[in-house]
Formats: sequence, C-alpha cells, structure tokens
Amino acid sequence: MGSGIALTAAQSGIRAFQIDVNTAALEKAKAYHQKTLARAVEKQKITEPDAAAALARISYCTAMADAKDADWVVEAATEQVDVKKKIFLAMQSAFKSDAVLATNTSSISITDLASALGADASRVIGMHFFNPVPLMKLVEVIKGIATSEETTARTMQLARDLGKTPVAANDRAGFVSNRVLMPMINEAFYAWMEGVAKPEDIDQIMLLGCNFPMGPLRLADFIGLDVCHDIMMVLHKELGQPKFFPCPLLRQLVQAGRLGDKTKRGVYEYPSK
Ligand code: CAA
Repeated sequence: MGSGIALTAAQSGIRAFQIDVNTAALEKAKAYHQKTLARAVEKQKITEPDAAAALARISYCTAMADAKDADWVVEAATEQVDVKKKIFLAMQSAFKSDAVLATNTSSISITDLASALGADASRVIGMHFFNPVPLMKLVEVIKGIATSEETTARTMQLARDLGKTPVAANDRAGFVSNRVLMPMINEAFYAWMEGVAKPEDIDQIMLLGCNFPMGPLRLADFIGLDVCHDIMMVLHKELGQPKFFPCPLLRQLVQAGRLGDKTKRGVYEYPSK
C-alpha cells in the first residue's frame, strides 16, 4: 500500500519519501514504481519525461529523519496496534510540529493510535487507501475523537490533490468499508465450507450477479487472507458481534500459510505470480 501511495503522490506532482526499515522492501517498491511507469509509457498513457519526473520525485529512505520537512506522513505498516503506536511516537518527534500524521489502517482505532501523543492527537487522522492504490478512487478519511477540523480539511484536500475522492467516516472499528466488506467475504467462506457451491462458482455468481470486478473469494486472496482474518478479529473484538468472527475455513487457510496472491496460494493457486 505504501508503494502505491508514494507512486500516486509522485504522479500527482508531489515529492514523496518512501520510508521502510527494510531495504529489500524499498527495492521492491522501486521496482514496482519503475515497472508501473514503464507500462504507462508503453501504453502511451504518459510520456517518457513525465514518467522520469515522477520517479525522480520519490526518494527511498530507511530513516524518518531523511524526510523531516514533510507536510504529511502516511503510516502504512503492518496492522498491529503496538507496531503502529511505536511508529506514531517516532513520527511525532521526527517530523514538523504542524505535519499531518495519517495512518492507512483498515480497522484499528484512530483515537487509540493517537492516545499517546498528547496535544498532537489533533494532527492524527485515518487516510484509508484501497488496493491497487493508483487505480482505486476512494480515500476513506477517518476522524479520531481528538482530530482537529483543520487536520480533516487538509487531509480531504490532499486526497483531492492525489486525484482521489475522499469520503469521511467516523472512528468505529472497520469504519464503513471493512465493516461492510468483511462480513460478505466471511459469508463467502461459509458458503464454500458448507458446500453451497465451489469457490469459482461463488465468485462467478457475485461477479456476474452483482457486477463486482472480483468475486469475494478472489478478492480475499488479493487483499491477503491473513489481512482479512486480522481485520475480522478487530471487528469482532471491538464491536462484539459473533458475525464478525472469521469462518473456520478462513482460519485454517491462514494457519496453513495459504495467504493468497502473496504466497501464490490461498483460495486459488497463482503459480506464475
Ligand atoms: N498498480 C498499478 N497499476 C495496476 C495495478 C497496480 N497494483 N494492478 C493493475 N494495474 C493496472 C494494469 O497494469 C492495467 O493497466 P493497463 O490497462 O494499462 O494494462 C489495469 O490496471 C487493469 O489491470 P488488469 O487488466 O490486470 O486487471 P483488471 O482489469 O481485472 O483490474 C483490478 C484489476 C483493478 C484490481 C480490478 O480487478 C478491481 O478493481 N478489483 C477489485 C479491487 C478492490 O476491491 N480493491 C479494494 C480491496 S479492499 C482494500 O484495499 C482495503 C482494505 O482495507 C482491505
């Protein structure tokens, strides 16, 4: 997600710093940026100089200090509260005192993430992008209890500057998108587990019957079965309703390491990925 956000910013004329503690992740991000821009040139969607200029707007760094003058920071680390809280504390001291501190979390409470930051909690906001970031138009903007009006207005404008459509939601687990999407994905696993239909047929029914670009099981592989599982656990814990608890078959696939596209096997197999 971070790579997609950096690329979208760069293509919108905004200077971007992609920061990761892992240099291999940065190399992977750079390769993704180069490949995506080269393909856009090949398909005559952008010119070669525009692609080169976009790439030149991205710096790849391992330390927050390299980007200390940034106006916005969008954290896109793994969906674990403790990891994100540590990163937010580091962000608070690394960046300017008026920088917006956004998180791309898909289910964790913005209010909770901001809780250790004192008065700076007013600068913390959810900026939830969708995969693949360069193609998906929505940014779900989530206000925590302490998020200021100014932070919200600046974030809505940044999303527009990125060519996206921001839509505001309140800070409840899963916000709107995953609160609605995850139970549907979970139900598709139950339909498969109970033998209502084969995975291909469940997906085909939803693809053709509801005009979805991907069926729910294919989408689960695309998102990552572990990510779906973790989001459902947050929804279940925070909202307290059994309907959010992940289907046993989904849990089993995660336990088996079948996480979807990224492990070449989830609901389906992807030998060429
Ligand atoms: N980055 C940049 N460009 C990409 C891309 C990526 N990651 N993936 C695909 N593209 C480009 C392709 O290069 C291709 O470009 P050209 O037309 O120039 O060749 C174009 O997009 C279309 O790609 P494909 O032909 O491979 O495939 P497609 O037409 O089936 O579209 C899709 C692929 C956009 C992913 C489409 O299937 C889709 O919209 N799927 C649903 C995605 C979705 O629901 N995302 C939200 C997930 S939920 C989430 O992210 C939030 C959360 O909290 C869990």
